[in-house]
Amino acid sequence: MTDRGVRSDPSWWRQAVVYQVYPRSFADANGDGVGDLPGVLSRVDHLVSLGVDAVWFSPFYPSALSDGGYDVDDYRDVDPTIGTLDDFDAVVAALHAHGIRVIIDIVPNHSSDRHVRFQEALAAGPGSPARDRYIFRDGQGVAGELPPNDWRSFFGGPAWTRLPDGQWYLHLFTPHQPDWNWDHPDVAEDFLRTLRFWGDRGVDGFRVDVAMCLAKDLREPYAAWEVVSANLPRPIGAGGPSRFPDGAHPLLDRAELDTIYASWRQVFDSYDPPLFAVGETWVEPHRLARYSDPRGLGQAFNFDFLWNPWEATRFREVIRDSLALAQTAGTSTTWVLSNHDLVRHATRYAPSPLAPDQRLTAAVPIGPEAREQGLRRATAATMLALALPGSAYLYQGEELGLHEVTDIPAASVQDPQARLVDGVLITRDGCRVPLPWTTSGPSFGFGDAEAHLPQPEWFGAVSVQTQTASDTSTLALYRRALQLRHELQCGEELTWLDLGADVVGFRRPNGWVSVTNFGASPTALPPGEVRLTNVDLVDGLLPADASAWLVPVATTDARTS
Ligand code: NOJ
Repeated sequence: MTDRGVRSDPSWWRQAVVYQVYPRSFADANGDGVGDLPGVLSRVDHLVSLGVDAVWFSPFYPSALSDGGYDVDDYRDVDPTIGTLDDFDAVVAALHAHGIRVIIDIVPNHSSDRHVRFQEALAAGPGSPARDRYIFRDGQGVAGELPPNDWRSFFGGPAWTRLPDGQWYLHLFTPHQPDWNWDHPDVAEDFLRTLRFWGDRGVDGFRVDVAMCLAKDLREPYAAWEVVSANLPRPIGAGGPSRFPDGAHPLLDRAELDTIYASWRQVFDSYDPPLFAVGETWVEPHRLARYSDPRGLGQAFNFDFLWNPWEATRFREVIRDSLALAQTAGTSTTWVLSNHDLVRHATRYAPSPLAPDQRLTAAVPIGPEAREQGLRRATAATMLALALPGSAYLYQGEELGLHEVTDIPAASVQDPQARLVDGVLITRDGCRVPLPWTTSGPSFGFGDAEAHLPQPEWFGAVSVQTQTASDTSTLALYRRALQLRHELQCGEELTWLDLGADVVGFRRPNGWVSVTNFGASPTALPPGEVRLTNVDLVDGLLPADASAWLVPVATTDARTS
């Protein structure tokens, strides 16, 4: 067990910088090519020098890795390739000792097909009480040879898999991820136990995987997939307003979720200070408040922000709407630009032959100029996000300005969602390639062995070691930005500044000003002392694809006198 010294402030998360660690690709201490918890322990200094407030760990549970660990065999243990529960305690203790909170991923929509409950259900056979914990149905057709309905999994292929005994089970993701039946009291009770297990172990909060999915309507007659899928929010579906009344879509965002998360809230609030939770919520913006309500999970990912093309108008709209929604719900919003499911934002913002809508999930090789422009826009966007009120979520490697790795050989692909679309390989592996820590050496300091996903040659030049030696590196910029954000952090309001159509500018209550130039020509900055830019000013003007932070000159005088 770890001490709770850092957990004294109940609202620590409202404006926290949360750094996402994808454990298998962060650092490998035992030289088996896969990242592990001792590896994280050996790199705590990196997280400290970066200045993050919390670390969110993607799943580290025992898993066959059919979906990168989001296929959980046991919710209350650590995968042996990643470490042990003792290693977990040691990581929590080390982070807490530096005032860094710990958030872990919880995956409540589905388990893995190796989970003891699923294995029990298989063994117990059709019609047994053990099968009620998951979603088993008889098939259609003369001998039940057809699936119960035509629903598809989010990763492609049917959402139903047939067993040798003839029954079918539902899985919204891979066939190795059977969906739990959340109408079953054992399922609900077991997750409460899991929350308490980790709460007692010292974690500060949870990131809730596909938080909008758990409850389902499996009553017959089933809605046709054409109708179900036409009403999924982006990027799972096409987006746009749902034809189902709010809370009545058969697969997601259902009204019953309120009861589930209210029971989780009771567990969260039984700790002092309460545990934190953020939902992975691909829902229409007007539904976000259901999850972020303080009586529910408390915070919800606002993914509209990362969906933005590089356009000032769109950024302004999304920021305004997100802040208003969060305020209505009595919470703070989130700003996410990259995570383990999406093309890294340095690549997304680069000029590319792909249509803007494709860039979140697909990447193609781009030339050096495009890479440079993408990175410049990415750091400008990061500074903008970090200056906004709310929590900022960073994904491991973005502090190095990493681009998506676009040349993963077909034989190395791990992502079950990987597919070729019009000759373009779509895979989430490109953002999950193990981090480069050193300029050279086996797996660039990730570990002693070859990394589990191949690292490209250019990783050495962007490694932590290379960038630490430079004052002008992306890493140096992130460190300065996080430090300054801490210094300047203040109340959760902003005042918009009118600096032209292509410029997003705002002032925080203490006078901290952030300006981002989305246009092609340099723009004048408002009065103030410039404290940080992602690229140098040109003749005192903010160039294209750049951000600047300013503080009032009077504040500066007071600070230095
Ligand atoms: C969302 C996770 O972020 C993603 O990586 C995973 O594949 C799906 N949920 C299914 O768990």
